[in-house]
Amino acid sequence: MPKRALLTGITGQDGSYLAEFLLSQDYEVHGLIRRASTFNTTRLEHIYEDPHNPAARLFLHYGDLSSGEQLNNLIYNLEPDEIYHLGAQSHVMVSFDMPEFTGDTTGLGTTRILEAIRRSGIKTRFYQASSSEMFGSSPPPQNEGTPFHPRSPYGAAKVYAYWMTVNYREAYKVFASNGILFNHESPRRGETFVTRKITRAVARIFAGKQKNLYLGNLEAKRDWGYAPEYVEAMWKMLQQEEAGDFVLGTGEEHSVREFVEEAFSYARLDWRKHVEIDARYIRPTEVDCLIADASKARRELSWKPRITFNEIVRIMVDTDIEALGLPSFGEGKTILEKKFDRWHQPRTVVSRAVHDAERQAVE
Ligand code: NAP
Ligand code: GDD
Repeated sequence: MPKRALLTGITGQDGSYLAEFLLSQDYEVHGLIRRASTFNTTRLEHIYEDPHNPAARLFLHYGDLSSGEQLNNLIYNLEPDEIYHLGAQSHVMVSFDMPEFTGDTTGLGTTRILEAIRRSGIKTRFYQASSSEMFGSSPPPQNEGTPFHPRSPYGAAKVYAYWMTVNYREAYKVFASNGILFNHESPRRGETFVTRKITRAVARIFAGKQKNLYLGNLEAKRDWGYAPEYVEAMWKMLQQEEAGDFVLGTGEEHSVREFVEEAFSYARLDWRKHVEIDARYIRPTEVDCLIADASKARRELSWKPRITFNEIVRIMVDTDIEALGLPSFGEGKTILEKKFDRWHQPRTVVSRAVHDAERQAVE
């Protein structure tokens, strides 16, 4: 019998990679999607299967984290071996505008799933998508023992969800693990997160479709990794003998300014001619510096990311240039072929589906 996994947030960056990875491991994959008036499954197009096909192993179910009704049904009826809870209002700046909604989905959403597990009485393994944003103003490097001091409604909601996960582990012996992930990026990153906002703008400026890029704080420092490597570690966490909490990150820090410089210079552009500061992107409270100490994951999960900062920039710029129908500089693809020739490859329809949708969006 193949293992069965249930994913919330399957339509997001991480959910789409994790679904792809689990299918490559012969899992049956079920995903929760929100009803929308337009298609919101672009990131899944390459793995979507008609459920009428008897060989189909990917199934999508409507539901929402703000309501327990469908979560209870799915967990009770599917009895998944593993649940990866990735769904969330995940944008930090948006959480300042929508703190109550963020608390409901990003915080209480976790409790709804944990309660559904407890009440259904099923034996399952639970992964909570915790975040380095929980560390907030705690000085780097941050590891599993670093105190939390969140600096946004999003961070505060994630701290609540983190502790609920720990509590269900201790109180009800649920196999529940927190992955405390530092920023991880890819060509599938949402367009309003800073890395993708930059690489998409670089591509459009390169193509002559845009002149300026408006950003907020260029001095914030982040530990940026490559998303497909992080979803592999999520899976590893649920294969351990015991549940636990793990920090994932590269251990390298770079500022937003460095990301800008690297992305523009890779496309042979002078960023000073195009980047302007717009105060509307400056947050009421900022997280200044996040750097992971991921030694526990290295030791216990044998996990170490291999794709570096400069390489992520190249992979993302290349993909965004190709999305506009132009030939890219090509280093990104070579890097992936050399260093990530596993379940995910840039030349598959995976990226083509995203490219096509993107091209339609900008034309
Ligand atoms: P993402 O691309 O923003 O995806 C979020 C997912 O959650 C989407 O599938 C979204 O559905 C879904 N969602 C949002 N609100 C929902 C609701 N009310 N009901 C059901 N589904 C809902 O995020 P990501 O980058 O893949 O991150 C995955 C998880 O890891 C998130 O919990 C995030 O907070 C956390 N995390 C991310 C990072 C990172 O650097 N990427 C680091 C640490 C932690 P739609 O497609 O319909 O919007
Ligand atoms: N989004 C955005 N847009 N960020 C900007 C901009 C801009 O125009 N200009 C500067 N920044 C700065 C932000 O102030 C922040 O310091 C940094 O760029 C990174 O912002 P995001 O890419 O939005 O990511 P984040 O670090 O706030 O949050 C992401 O990582 C968390 C893990 O640390 C999200 O993926 C969260 O869901 C995740 O938990």
